Amino acid sequence: MSAPHTTSRTPRVVVMGGSSGIGEATATLFADAGAEVVVTGRDQNKLDAAVARLGGKTTGHRLDATDPAQIEAFFGQSGSIDHLVIAVSGSAGSGSFAELDLDQLAAGFDGKFWPQIRIVKAALPQLEPNGSITLITAASAHAAFPGTAGLAAINGALNAMVAPLAVELAPIRVNAVAPGVIDTEWWERVPEQQRRALFDGLAGTTPVGRVGNPDEPARAVHMLATNGFVNGVVLDVTGGANLATGR
Ligand SMILES: NC(=O)c1ccc[n+]([C@@H]2O[C@H](COP(=O)([O-])OP(=O)(O)OC[C@H]3O[C@@H](n4cnc5c(N)ncnc54)[C@H](OP(=O)(O)O)[C@@H]3O)[C@@H](O)[C@H]2O)c1
Repeated sequence: MSAPHTTSRTPRVVVMGGSSGIGEATATLFADAGAEVVVTGRDQNKLDAAVARLGGKTTGHRLDATDPAQIEAFFGQSGSIDHLVIAVSGSAGSGSFAELDLDQLAAGFDGKFWPQIRIVKAALPQLEPNGSITLITAASAHAAFPGTAGLAAINGALNAMVAPLAVELAPIRVNAVAPGVIDTEWWERVPEQQRRALFDGLAGTTPVGRVGNPDEPARAVHMLATNGFVNGVVLDVTGGANLATGR
């Protein structure tokens, strides 16, 4: 039996969408473990604040992942990468299907599906052979929550690519974390009072009795990225919320 490949140099990690929420929590875990981390985001002030919080060998790079040229330019100068984590989001495409504007669904794909896929493609020349790619998708892909058919389509399309990519891009490993409801900035688009009521309601239907915090999916991402024998997995981090829907 051959020994797993090990390296003594400092791992290089890129977290696309690492200036808040799950991405920042993931960057924190890698930075605390001594990795050299690059976080990206669109808002320079937010990025600077995240880099200051992360400390260590962390740097920030401003880019809008909906712009293919900015993605290409970033990976053209990134240098080699051990672990790539993709947390960029977008929020369009949710709501009851009968009322869903299909242009909004297309905007949802433009905000999340296409950026994540373009990032994977552009990053390939920089990824170390024993490296990893972890997508952050969403449990809505298969949870059958009402009002999430559009989000299910966007995130389900990403989840569906994980296994074939893991085979095709080998030995680079490809996994995804599919979070349930996590209390991050993503939810700030919902007014505070309404958000609290929503979280309380969801807590009541989630087996662990609460919504998640960003550190919880981040720890799943860190495990998938650093465990060299986990490959082609979509890991739900939902507190069991999706189980109530039978999925
Ligand atoms: N929170 C949840 O309940 C939940 C549930 C399921 C799945 N997710 C998924 O988890 C991922 C992370 O979300 P989060 O909850 O951690 O939200 P968040 O706190 O809003 O983090 C999103 C990060 O991505 C960056 N970003 C967003 N759009 C970008 C773009 N076009 N180009 C570059 N950077 C971009 C944001 O920075 P800027 O805004 O400065 O660009 C930020 O750093 C997303 O894919 C989301 O769909 C979240």
